[in-house]
Amino acid sequence: MSILHDFAQLLYDSDFGTALRESQYAFPVVEGAHLLGLAFSVGLLAFADLRLAGVLLRDEPVLHVLGQLRPFILGGFAITFATGVMLFWAMSIKLLPNPIFPVKLIFILLAGVNFLWFEFGVARGAAEWSDCPVPPVRARVAGWTSLVLWSAVVISGRLIPYLG
Ligand code: HEM
Repeated sequence: MSILHDFAQLLYDSDFGTALRESQYAFPVVEGAHLLGLAFSVGLLAFADLRLAGVLLRDEPVLHVLGQLRPFILGGFAITFATGVMLFWAMSIKLLPNPIFPVKLIFILLAGVNFLWFEFGVARGAAEWSDCPVPPVRARVAGWTSLVLWSAVVISGRLIPYLG
């Protein structure tokens, strides 16, 4: 068996994994927190992305919108990732054969690359175009790419229980 399979089996058989999986309330509470984290992260990020795309909040400077939303978006992602790892821990061995789970992780990775490109590339010149109702092409591409990739993460996350 592969190292990944052995590791997943270890998590699945662990006291924590078993307790979470077999609990009546803890698993739905963790999954609920996964969705709440999603609402604060991907949900608020959609507003930032639509501002970058020049669709929404066009009278608000981009840096103003991002500055206000950033702590809530990052807090939401922290909750979503922490609860995601717990969900994986409880279901690990069952998730390995699930075709959509790696697809979801690839979308998360691509969305992360887009985020880094924006933060360390596109946003560097933001002071020049922050007040523009329609930002430059690179900023719009980053906004639309983020919207599409995080939507794909949400849809693939929702498909996990159906394709298991
Ligand atoms: C920020 C990124 C993430 C988003 C937006 C996201 C979104 C979602 C959504 C919408 C669901 C469906 C929930 C439902 O069916 O009620 C889900 C389920 C799930 N997520 Fe995530 N997720 C993220 C990150 C992660 C990570 C990093 C992991 C694990 C490493 C993970 C593991 C899971 C698992 C195992 C399920 C299935 C739970 C079940 O079968 O009921 N997620 N996710």
